Amino acid sequence: MGRCPACGAWEVFERAEEKEKGRPRLSGAPQPLPQIQVNAEGRRQTGIEEFDRTLGGGIIPGSVLLIGGEPGVGKSTLLLQVAEGIARRHGLVLYISGEESPGQIKLRADRLGVNSDRLLILGEQSLSRIEEAIQDLSPTAILVDSIQSVFPPDDKTHELGSLRQVREVSAAFTYMAKSQGIPTLLVGHITKGGEFAGPKAIEHMVDVALYLEGEADGPVRMLRAVKNRFGSIDEVGVFEMGETGLKEITDPSGFFIRKGQEERSGSAVVPSLEGSRPILVEIQALVARAYGNYAQRRATGLDLNRMALWLAVVEKRLDVQIGREDVYLNVAGGLVIRETAVDLGATAAIVSSFTNRPISQDVVIVGEVGLNGEVRGVKRLRERLVEAERLGYRRAIVPAIRDINGLDTLKPDPVTDIEAAMEALSL
Ligand code: TYD
Ligand code: MG
Repeated sequence: MGRCPACGAWEVFERAEEKEKGRPRLSGAPQPLPQIQVNAEGRRQTGIEEFDRTLGGGIIPGSVLLIGGEPGVGKSTLLLQVAEGIARRHGLVLYISGEESPGQIKLRADRLGVNSDRLLILGEQSLSRIEEAIQDLSPTAILVDSIQSVFPPDDKTHELGSLRQVREVSAAFTYMAKSQGIPTLLVGHITKGGEFAGPKAIEHMVDVALYLEGEADGPVRMLRAVKNRFGSIDEVGVFEMGETGLKEITDPSGFFIRKGQEERSGSAVVPSLEGSRPILVEIQALVARAYGNYAQRRATGLDLNRMALWLAVVEKRLDVQIGREDVYLNVAGGLVIRETAVDLGATAAIVSSFTNRPISQDVVIVGEVGLNGEVRGVKRLRERLVEAERLGYRRAIVPAIRDINGLDTLKPDPVTDIEAAMEALSL
């Protein structure tokens, strides 16, 4: 068109193809599948094992990673530790912060013991100035903290974290990563009141989406992959937030279970699964007479909806009158557990606290509980039990599904419903 029908100006239109030229080419002509060469370039390790493990072994060149999480969970801390790992092993790293000044980052770095002169800090919010810096430096990796704090050149609103801004900025970084082969890590805050302009909004653009999770006042942080174009999403990284940053927890079961204490009611040990990794956790329940008009139900590290189901099943199937009792549930150590395989352990902990009878210390409990009180199978049962055996447990209350072999000192005790499970536990 010669003239713009909206504003009346002449010769203002550009050809669409001109823009197309700038798109990165992922391949040339179409090729038969068997002849396609797999990019043999290896993964780049950061040296932070729990991080590399979550990625499936390291960062693929040219890939875009997203690290999402609630404010304050430790994203910037993780990013700085990862930055140092990459700088030390692979070369120049550009750390772009639109949130904190270089001085603030230096203070954190001092705390973490991070001090690499191959790590360059750029405090900048303007996308075009960031692009210039990347052209000048050609870093081996780019880190951006955060996508919500960088603005495209024509952004007039300057409204932090609008959907458009977050998408445009992420698309620009994705483009740079792909066309120049520079791996890029983007931090995204989970915004309060929904996931509108948060990391969810750009998950489809990135190659790998990781979320850092944990109870804000507890020490444990889990790094989970929800998407990974180069590996499985079954891996999780487990960290402890301490005085000097995030430390890897390489033996989570040993970390979360404290053995050798006297038996207490309301405590059950569950071989839980995080990704493909069995982790033993202690579920604690406290059931106490409610004062006031209605009973409290609180769960830390467990799903409140699931808790409602456990209480209903316990009341209906076991005839335990729990309606007028306060019930508090907790996962010791600050882990967050989402899988239904903890159902049976959680109901056992509740009943144990109610009856004031402890569960024997050498037993682990695992199984999903259905609405009728039936105990259902869980995935990777054998791996869970092998882990329990490694930590010295001798008995396991398990769903009666099939035979489990490969166990030596741990004896499985199969049950079909929660009545049988409570009986096996003498509750
Ligand atoms: P931060 O990485 O700034 O979180 P995010 O970028 O996700 O908002 O870390 C936030 C919290 O972590 C902060 O409350 C202080 C705590 N922290 C430690 O406990 N130890 C440390 O070494 C550091 C750097 C932070
Ligand atoms: Mg931060």
